[in-house]
Amino acid sequence: MILRNGNIFLLQTKGSSYFMQVLPSGHIEHIHYGASLISDMQYEKFMKNESAEEGLLSDMAKVLEIKHKNEGGNMVVYSKESYPLCLEVMPLEMSGFGKGDIREPLVELTFADGSSTCDFLFESAEISDELGSLETLPSSYDDLGKGAESAGEEDKAAPWEKDHAQQLTITLKDTGYDIRLKMIYKVYPECDTITRSAVLINDGDARVKVDRLLSIQIDFQQSGYQLTSFHGRWADEMGQTVSVCNAGKVVSEELAAGESGSRSNPFTMVSMPDTTETAGDCYGFNLVYSGNHYSSLSSNGTFLSRFVSGIQPTGFEWLLEAGEKFEAPEAVMTYSGRGFGGMSRSMHDFVRKHIVRGVWRDKERPILINNWEATYFNFNQNSLLKIAKEASKAGIELFVLDDGWFGKRNDDHAGLGDWIVNTKKLPDGLGGLAEKINAMGMKFGLWVEPEMVNEDSDLFRAHPEWAVRIPGRSHSVGRTQMILDLTRTDVQDYIIDALSKVFSSANISYIKWDMNRIFSDRFSLELPAERMKEFQHRYYIGLYRIMGTLTKKFPEILFEGCSAGGNRFDLGILSFFPQIWASDDTDAECRMDIQRGYSYGYPANTQGAHVSAVPNHQTLHTVPLETRFSVAAFGCFGYELNLGELSEQQRKQVADQVEFYKKWRKVFQFGDFYRLDKYRFMVVSKDKSAAVALIFQKESRPNNDYLALKTMGLDEDAVYEVANRQVSVNIKAFGSLINTMAPIHVKQDGIIHGIIARHYKMNGEKDEAVATGSMLNSCGVRLNPDYGGTGYGEDTRMFRTGDARLYVFARVE
Ligand code: DGJ
Repeated sequence: MILRNGNIFLLQTKGSSYFMQVLPSGHIEHIHYGASLISDMQYEKFMKNESAEEGLLSDMAKVLEIKHKNEGGNMVVYSKESYPLCLEVMPLEMSGFGKGDIREPLVELTFADGSSTCDFLFESAEISDELGSLETLPSSYDDLGKGAESAGEEDKAAPWEKDHAQQLTITLKDTGYDIRLKMIYKVYPECDTITRSAVLINDGDARVKVDRLLSIQIDFQQSGYQLTSFHGRWADEMGQTVSVCNAGKVVSEELAAGESGSRSNPFTMVSMPDTTETAGDCYGFNLVYSGNHYSSLSSNGTFLSRFVSGIQPTGFEWLLEAGEKFEAPEAVMTYSGRGFGGMSRSMHDFVRKHIVRGVWRDKERPILINNWEATYFNFNQNSLLKIAKEASKAGIELFVLDDGWFGKRNDDHAGLGDWIVNTKKLPDGLGGLAEKINAMGMKFGLWVEPEMVNEDSDLFRAHPEWAVRIPGRSHSVGRTQMILDLTRTDVQDYIIDALSKVFSSANISYIKWDMNRIFSDRFSLELPAERMKEFQHRYYIGLYRIMGTLTKKFPEILFEGCSAGGNRFDLGILSFFPQIWASDDTDAECRMDIQRGYSYGYPANTQGAHVSAVPNHQTLHTVPLETRFSVAAFGCFGYELNLGELSEQQRKQVADQVEFYKKWRKVFQFGDFYRLDKYRFMVVSKDKSAAVALIFQKESRPNNDYLALKTMGLDEDAVYEVANRQVSVNIKAFGSLINTMAPIHVKQDGIIHGIIARHYKMNGEKDEAVATGSMLNSCGVRLNPDYGGTGYGEDTRMFRTGDARLYVFARVE
């Protein structure tokens, strides 16, 4: 809901308020963003359009506005007329450069006369029930309408359930030059999310240089906030880092990789040092953008902090000609007073409903098998069909053919750009292979890496000018490949055309879209020298055009983004592709950390997660099949190994996992996600009728065995049946302890040991309980003991380092 009383604006969601007013000087004071300023009753009244209530906004502003009555010492006064206004001490909706606000600006411009002072003041505001979209970049959307009202449950519903998304556009105009800045706010009440974007419009007759245009600026009236950012590298994404900002500045940025990046994800959180998983103020921020980004939290060390976020200003410039406009990416913010967990769940709802789109948005994602870690480049039709056959026997729904199916792509030195099937490997072509896969009852999917070219490729030989490099200088490569110049329309058109042919050449249901190197030697033969710093942003405008065109043309295909794993895991990509391969690291233990990192800002059904072989190919670490399954189940689930090389018992286990996942898939993919602690996750279905929890054993210790599973999010009034997913135990796991039971001496790992293990079937522990949600949420269910060194039976949980257990909760109706 957006309320206006004169020039006072309240953006209201279920549990948060965003409050601002236009000052007599024309600047916009940011009064508050955080906990709701109004009660549910007031929300209800506003919803009923009792406009008399709107007088309340000016009363609220009088109480909350900054009481700035004296000129600040050693500060600049904005103007004689507005004396003693010093912008440096005002919380503001936007800051320019050069009029006394010496903090981090939202916008920096250079005008034709060389001056760089900009002075944007309020011109007009417009509230609309229609949400607009950006023209060059993806943005959030709403198609939910008024939920409960349309369901005919108006009276019972809470006010925000009857509410719907709205947009506020505030236009500011510079006092000296003919340039306007539009600040666009979209309010999504039901998921406590507000978005902001900024558009610059040059109404003058001279060109203006845009040195920076960030997307969001939030001034907090307090210092000492902490910025949580997520950093890593290839195969080790989303490590969490916390930096407290008492004064000065902390930054999370992708400076020059050219992608949103595994080094620094654009998602960040601002909270207080005492915020916990379940309590305290927490703000989540993200950008609907895939390029270099910049977010900072700074403080003047007294009572103000400023968060900004947007396109990375380093290396960026944009020449805005007379009559043109420039759009900054949309920024997303969510506030929760219920700690990190509350913020995450709102962010998940927002991403699932207002970023992800298309036919797959609300559909359960198929269980897939991908051949990459099973074969790498070394495959042919027969070897693929063998893997597919085992997969179909196990109940897997989609077979994905990864890298190596085209051109001369037998390793990673050649072939990128030549999107023609290699008939030596696949004599029946993609069409023939897809038919055979379909005949097994599975859908067929394919890998592509459209943004790239190898020097050893027909495409490069035909169009060397399409590769990104600086003429006359040696260029750098990554994975021996170069990037295609997507700033060019002819290159965009070539990709659209080449991929359209591939996508129509067979019955393709899924595409994995990879991107395996970062940028260097930025240059386009089509850009004049003075515009070369526009290259990176223009690349993404081009990429989004390609992705938009192809996803519209092939609406039924499920697209999965990928960039050497999670090097481009962001809301820009998710605006086109519903899911992204989260990491090239498939080690379940590492994945607990990586997926936990993603879980702060991204829902489980955006993260690709697979069971792979052991020893794991990235870490050489071995964890049980059940653990690999349990962790991957908290994502878009699949397998990435040669099932034919598993033992019969393991193949049965896989079939059992697939059956289990299908039964609980909706909860895993669309449920509310809870981090119970660092190594325990839980998902609860939206109607709270079903839930699944995971406990991962990070480090086992003897005599340390009395675990309880304390839940979150269950319906306190409901009764649940709780059960663990029972696993079978291989007697060999006890090693020489077999001799405490065996009548004869058994040599560990000898022939007799093997025979006993094959014939002696042992079940793991069974935990079962019936309890109310309130018991489970407050105390938890006490579980059977771990193996602790003093005895073992069927009531004892074998819970070695790296073991994991799933527990399911079904409401008793
Ligand atoms: C990197 C991806 O992340 C992998 O999953 C795989 O598709 C390879 N590229 C193929 O080259």
